[in-house]
Amino acid sequence: MKDQPAVSGGIPVRHNKAWPSWPIVTEKEWESDIEPKMREVYLSQNEGLSGLKATEFSQRYAKYTGTAYATFMPHGTDSISAALAGALDLDGLEEGGEVIVPNYTFVATASAALDRRCTVTFVDIDPDNFTINPPDLEEAITDRTRAIIVVHLGGHPANMEAINKIAQQHNLKVIEDCAQAHGAESHGQKVGSLGDIGAFSFQSSKNLTSGEGGMVTTDNVEFHNLVHAFMNVGRAPDGARWEYPRLGWNYRPSEYLAALLLVRLEKLEEQTDIRNQNATYLFNELKQIEGITPPKLESWVTKHGYHLYMMKYNPEGFGGKPRNEFLAALSAEGIPCSSGYGSPLSKEGGIKHVAELYPEKIREFPCPNTEQVCTESAWLFQNILLGTRADMDDIVESIAKIQKAWN
Ligand SMILES: Cc1ncc(COP(=O)(O)O)c(C=O)c1O
Repeated sequence: MKDQPAVSGGIPVRHNKAWPSWPIVTEKEWESDIEPKMREVYLSQNEGLSGLKATEFSQRYAKYTGTAYATFMPHGTDSISAALAGALDLDGLEEGGEVIVPNYTFVATASAALDRRCTVTFVDIDPDNFTINPPDLEEAITDRTRAIIVVHLGGHPANMEAINKIAQQHNLKVIEDCAQAHGAESHGQKVGSLGDIGAFSFQSSKNLTSGEGGMVTTDNVEFHNLVHAFMNVGRAPDGARWEYPRLGWNYRPSEYLAALLLVRLEKLEEQTDIRNQNATYLFNELKQIEGITPPKLESWVTKHGYHLYMMKYNPEGFGGKPRNEFLAALSAEGIPCSSGYGSPLSKEGGIKHVAELYPEKIREFPCPNTEQVCTESAWLFQNILLGTRADMDDIVESIAKIQKAWN
């Protein structure tokens, strides 16, 4: 019975054992750290417009990412729109020009560009690191292209050296979608500081969260001023309350969110290190199991963000059983997992609908790597990587048990 997969009636590897929850919440932390910060906002009677806590958190986040400026936003999606508005000086009233995005990403990477009235061109990813493939990106550039949105997918930094070089040659702006990559580093530099401008998300699943939230980071003061105007009804960062030198909207987040994030940011680096240690352990164990390819770390990655642990599944190592059966079996052993994005983003309903209504808005290059990865991937989530060494052993034991039973 012990060797029988739980999905076929055996005893699960993990029985009544919880994974670290997300976000991590404790009464102790509420009392010692969070409640005093919330109280400060409450008693100050400045819950919004003053933006004192938002400014404090933005400055801390800028320092964390090694950038000169940061602007706190309500969501990651608006942060990408604001980043495009800043880097391309787009008020959204005129056509925005063409933006190149990877076809393996969350819908917001593309919808935020459409929101700025940009044309979106989808290109393929590198099959091993899941981020935009520089040669494919270069091939897609036209004289209408204005920007590249790179996505550090799952927390793996994209090949920024190659991408920045291409961008320079073609005079393009580089926007980093860092929604899944808080704390990740390329050659020792944090994501969000590697292109012209970076956009982060603090949505509830993200490695730093306040339920909803976002941030734009940059070293460029002009971009920063435009992002600030986008966020704060057109105001300048140091301008008067009733002056609006630019067109802008109200994307000011609540001060309570900034108060919460100020506490949680303190834990981010330590948590990222734990995820990296566990991921390295898993890599060394899982690479020995035929049919599983653990995620590759490219040479430029000095720290992975590990929002996702993205394995590849090959049925040949598992007696020919399809991926959905493997994921069901792994879940039955007590290991939460997912197949990830089911198809290239250009094939998803909303984007296809836009392409039908406005064919000139979407361009799509062949994306064989993306198609392949969509059929092979098997994801574990970031909270799992906050577990103990024994928890990691349960993952390895579960996969090995399934593989042995099916061969
Ligand atoms: C790659 C990527 N970009 C953008 C977003 C959008 O962030 P938000 O949900 O905060 O709007 C997300 C996450 O949801 C994401 O995973």
